[in-house]
Amino acid sequence: MAKMKSGAGGVSDQSLILFGAGGDLSARMLIPALFFLDLDGLLAADFRIWGVSRREDTTEAFLAEAWRGLSENARTRAAPNSDAAWKRFQARFTYFAADATKAEDMARLRDDMGERATGEVLVYFATSPSLFGAISLALQAGGLAGPKTRAVLEKPIGRDLESARAINDAVAAVFSEDRVFRIDHYLGKETVQNLIALRFGNVLFEPLWNNLSIDHVQITIAETGGVGDRWPYYDEYGALRDMLQNHLMQLLCLTAMEPPSDLDPQAVRWEKLKVLRSLRPMDRAEVKHSTVRGQYVAGVVEGERVEGYVQERGAPTDTETYVAIRAEIDNWRWAGVPFYLRTGKRMPERRTEIVIQFKPVPHSIFAGEGRGDLVANQLVIRLQPEEDISLLLMNKTPGLSREGMRLEALPLSLSNGGKAKDGTRRIAYESLLLDALDGNSTLFVGREEVETSWAWVDGVEEAWRHAAHGPKPYAAGVWGPSAAHALTERSGRQWRE
Ligand code: BG6
Repeated sequence: MAKMKSGAGGVSDQSLILFGAGGDLSARMLIPALFFLDLDGLLAADFRIWGVSRREDTTEAFLAEAWRGLSENARTRAAPNSDAAWKRFQARFTYFAADATKAEDMARLRDDMGERATGEVLVYFATSPSLFGAISLALQAGGLAGPKTRAVLEKPIGRDLESARAINDAVAAVFSEDRVFRIDHYLGKETVQNLIALRFGNVLFEPLWNNLSIDHVQITIAETGGVGDRWPYYDEYGALRDMLQNHLMQLLCLTAMEPPSDLDPQAVRWEKLKVLRSLRPMDRAEVKHSTVRGQYVAGVVEGERVEGYVQERGAPTDTETYVAIRAEIDNWRWAGVPFYLRTGKRMPERRTEIVIQFKPVPHSIFAGEGRGDLVANQLVIRLQPEEDISLLLMNKTPGLSREGMRLEALPLSLSNGGKAKDGTRRIAYESLLLDALDGNSTLFVGREEVETSWAWVDGVEEAWRHAAHGPKPYAAGVWGPSAAHALTERSGRQWRE
């Protein structure tokens, strides 16, 4: 979806300001993503980056630290020209110590950028969202929010509808909505984009993509990692706000939306928004019946003993590290098809997938002893750990038999690889950074989407606040609390585990 305009060594006069350059996200994702784009020749020859953080540091020392992380990376190691690419990257990069919320610091930054300050500037806000408004104002006062400046906002946009609105209003005072790029890195994952290709680039699925043929949908984001020392952030958010409000909701929207007229950002956002507006509101009765929240206690994950969340945090807390929800989309296409959403930390395996569970055949002509049960078709769109789309189909077991035809379920796999030239996996941020540089906001999240999604999630939070019990414990290394299984089994369904 990224239309390349600025890369392949061309000239673009574009610059990137990265706020929060000294933070964890920059070190783990953003600087590597930028470097890998450079490595692949996708950044314009004169593209420049200013990394901004409060800490006093020199460009040399900052980059030396960044290189330590990058030189361990399989992708860097696999590239024969990575040393030369790193030299090129260093020449583009300036570290700038400043307080991004201060107009005078932003004026200093503008002076450092010279004429580039009024050219095409992408400003990446990888800071706490509580600073987004103040940073926007400081940029404006410092002369860095010209008409060609675009703002990329990291999640979380708020922790409820009210705070999300406040952040959006504060940013909107400086940047018009068409210049605001709210990033959800899940939309940069290869298989998520492939879901759009699968649904709208083929004629096969669309006639079946509705409540006549589909029994239910499951969307799972399971992580083996725990919260660890990220708890000061996490404790304020929990799994519902950290993962479900954004990543799971976006996957739900792309799975459930109507075909957009084209890939224009407005067309796609409108279809996603229609899905969010059709979600059945979560009142207290619905929340009691249709949600499960859990918190991991000590256990064993991938053969290793690990602590519970309370030990990591150092004090008891009601923050959930697991959530499962049965959501209903009240529209013609999806009436009666539950969407089961779940995400958790300290799960037995890392797995992100969308499962489209089709209905069983209306009548089996294969009935009889030893002929095998018919398994209903299942389309599994897997994002992690491997990127793969597979369709479970019933097949005749090869060979002869006097007892008649035997059947077995076999997956038809469309392994797309989703890999870079050197065989390693791309960071989701790479494709989104390219899109933002090209001004293509199709895979970014609109203001109304964010706010509509919060309004729905607030219903769940509100009910949980008034519930008699907090999250249910589950041992690290299992698929969440047992109540999560009851959630699907109650209607005769089962999580795919
Ligand atoms: C982030 C969450 O948005 O996504 C983290 O804040 C989570 O808690 C991460 O671990 C998962 O992303 P991915 O791409 O590793 O699945």
